[in-house]
Amino acid sequence: MWPYPKVIAHRGGGTLAPENTIAAMQCGLDFGYRAVEFDVMLSMDGVPVLMHDPLFGRTVRGEGGVATTSAARLLEMDAGSWYSESFIGEKVPSYEQVVRFCQQHDIWMNVEIKPVPGFEQETGRVVAQLTQALHVEGAPAPLFSSFSFEALASAQKQAPEIARGLLFDEIPADWLSRLQQLAAVALHCNHKHLSPALAQQIKQAGYGLLCYTVNTPERALEIRNWGVDAFCTDKINLIPADF
Ligand code: G3P
Ligand code: MG
Repeated sequence: MWPYPKVIAHRGGGTLAPENTIAAMQCGLDFGYRAVEFDVMLSMDGVPVLMHDPLFGRTVRGEGGVATTSAARLLEMDAGSWYSESFIGEKVPSYEQVVRFCQQHDIWMNVEIKPVPGFEQETGRVVAQLTQALHVEGAPAPLFSSFSFEALASAQKQAPEIARGLLFDEIPADWLSRLQQLAAVALHCNHKHLSPALAQQIKQAGYGLLCYTVNTPERALEIRNWGVDAFCTDKINLIPADF
């Protein structure tokens, strides 16, 4: 049985708010969502922050990137104005700020560990360590995920008690041995590359199955019929949280 929420707001509030910000989490809440996926990487000085792209240019202005910028500078950067005028001044949040926000509002977290290339081990370890340090009694147990095997292995070493899901775009032939090596609880994949037969194999092997990014109720129902346990969505306005 899948012990986590079945419908998850992608990057905080899907496409309804600037991704990976506190405003996005608030937007998810406003739409009734109590489950969120977001992306975490390390600043130059090793502080986990929410960001999808390693380089600036899309969601924050400027040259350079996350791994060559201090946390103090990153946390001052505007991550809202690219989206719309009404979000001007919305800052890049630290992972710590987001964990506290989620605890305060009883939001379940799928923490995607998204290391800048070259920082896989360190990112996995630091995110796991901080998650342990910030955990409070009664808060929902989070689920880590990553496309990086190395980052998840490092998180596992630091915090074996925090559940892990290995992320794939296309599912490789050796998916089972990779999940076994990580003692993962779930496989996360792009729904576009999933087939009913593969879904069945994953479920029969005893793993949870989570898909990204499912944006219509019709597709959500279809993959649910294949055995998919959960999905994240950009369309929190089209797919209700209790779907
Ligand atoms: O965790 C699922 C999904 O977020 C993976 O892709 O690029 O949106 O982080 P991406
Ligand atoms: Mg993600």
